[in-house]
Amino acid sequence: MKALICILLLLETFVFVVQQQVDGGLNEKEISQQISSEDGRQNPPQTDTLRAEASTDSQQYCDLGIPDIHAALRKLAATVTEQKGKIRELTTTVTEQKENIRALETQLRDEMNKKNEEISNLTLGQVELRKENRDREIAFSAGLRESGDGYIGPFTDEITLTYRNVITNIGNAYNPITGVFTAPLKGAYMFRISVFSHGPTASAASIYKNGERVVIAYALQPQRELNASNGVVLILEVGDVVYVRLWPNTRIFDNNNNHSTFSGYLLFPLREDNLCKM
Ligand SMILES: *[C@@H]1O[C@H](CO)[C@@H](O)[C@H](O)[C@H]1NC(C)=O
Ligand SMILES: *[C@@H]1O[C@H](CO)[C@@H](O)[C@H](O)[C@H]1NC(C)=O
Ligand SMILES: *[C@@H]1O[C@H](CO)[C@@H](O)[C@H](O)[C@H]1NC(C)=O
Repeated sequence: MKALICILLLLETFVFVVQQQVDGGLNEKEISQQISSEDGRQNPPQTDTLRAEASTDSQQYCDLGIPDIHAALRKLAATVTEQKGKIRELTTTVTEQKENIRALETQLRDEMNKKNEEISNLTLGQVELRKENRDREIAFSAGLRESGDGYIGPFTDEITLTYRNVITNIGNAYNPITGVFTAPLKGAYMFRISVFSHGPTASAASIYKNGERVVIAYALQPQRELNASNGVVLILEVGDVVYVRLWPNTRIFDNNNNHSTFSGYLLFPLREDNLCKM
């Protein structure tokens, strides 16, 4: 601040002197002549007096606080340059950080989009799985008699048994009116029968697949209870049928205790490419 005031004072003095000389309409030569001629005068002209006063003022002022204005100015300039450099460095750092943040933002956005896509893919997958699982929910169990008790048979010919007492029938693939199970999808299925009766007439039933006997459960003893069971895993195509037939000249008994039953369920579905030949 002091330095500035000094400079201003000096400038003022200089401008004042020049102004006076210009106003007087004198050229350099005339000025110097005037100065030299005036040297001997008793009362010097106003111009010189003022100039002398001004320069004395400024010198005195500057001598008090700052002995070397130029040195101070140089120092100031150096500091300003230094600060400018620092600001430039900071600006560079800020720009770099901004770029880093922008890069991070982009990365985050990309990752979030990917995660969202994964989630929606998962959701879609789950919907499909749930649908697929619902298709796979196939299981049934049925007892022979809906009410009462008694024997079925013996007959001279084989007959298809209708297990009317439905205990479970998920997927409704078993028909309690016809006694026939129809495969709703290609897969490996488990079937099981239990046969119960009393001697001396034998008790026997077979599991059939599409008109062919697959397994038989057979029991025979002269008296008291007869019981037998069997089971089989079958590979079924869509629409294949499975049912139980009573062996000729045998009988089967049931009451509300569900002694004689027919059960089946899907173990797992099969695709075209891994279907086993049977
Ligand atoms: C989402 O599923 C589509 C279609 O199946 C697939 O192209 C994409 O790569 C999956 N995205 C992810 C993140 O798994
Ligand atoms: C099953 O049959 C066997 C003989 O074949 C007999 O010993 C057993 O008691 C019977 N079980 C029932 C529950 O009737
Ligand atoms: C036989 O099955 C029916 C129908 O599910 C049931 O009400 C009954 O209690 C069962 N009988 C026995 C002895 O479990």
